[in-house]
Amino acid sequence: MANVKLAVIYYSSTGTNYQMAKWAEEAGKEAGADVRVVKAPELAPEAAIASNPAWKEHYEATKDVPEATSDDIEWADAIIFSMPTRFGNVPSQMKQYIDSQGGLWATGKTVNKAVSVMVSASNAHGGQEATALSFYTTMMHWGAIIVAPGYTDESIAPAGGNPYGTSVTQGQDGKMVENVEPAVKHQVKRTVEVAAKLNS
Ligand SMILES: Cc1cc2nc3c(=O)[nH]c(=O)nc-3n(C[C@H](O)[C@H](O)[C@H](O)COP(=O)(O)O)c2cc1C
Repeated sequence: MANVKLAVIYYSSTGTNYQMAKWAEEAGKEAGADVRVVKAPELAPEAAIASNPAWKEHYEATKDVPEATSDDIEWADAIIFSMPTRFGNVPSQMKQYIDSQGGLWATGKTVNKAVSVMVSASNAHGGQEATALSFYTTMMHWGAIIVAPGYTDESIAPAGGNPYGTSVTQGQDGKMVENVEPAVKHQVKRTVEVAAKLNS
């Protein structure tokens, strides 16, 4: 998969999507892609972050991860987005980042990117699929090529069987409930492979 440029763009308050982004980075490199991991900028006030120890800890621990810019989208052939659900929808931090890309969209620079989304929620039926589908609506406006995992690999069913994109439940203890690492890695490999075909 030489020459495929993969941007992993995530938002995470308490680390779940950061971990998924790191697995995505690993899989992208294994597939031979050039990989960037960047985070959607935080919008919450410091006081809100400080009120949740897990959020505060993760916020401090990932201060050095570069913030996503328009250049990451323009640069990439393939993009993996990863985000937690917020009331069954895309979190404002990711939405704000996406909504800042009107200039790229207007100049055709979002077209034909191979994109795929990963999601997390506290409940298995708390909006994982709805969040992925909502995000994909925007990707259609972008003219992106959506690379849904479907049921293309045996890793998908044990991960919860979400054909729209790997999604995971964050348990009460803050840890992931399903074993999604293999599904994340398959999703990334597949997205990189599609991007390589689009490049050829
Ligand atoms: C404001 C807010 C709204 C949320 N809405 C939902 C929801 O609708 N359904 C759900 O299952 N979890 C919901 N959650 C839980 C988050 O999705 C969960 O904490 C997140 O997936 C963990 O990912 P992270 O560790 O990457 O931040 C919500 C959390 C917050 C803070």
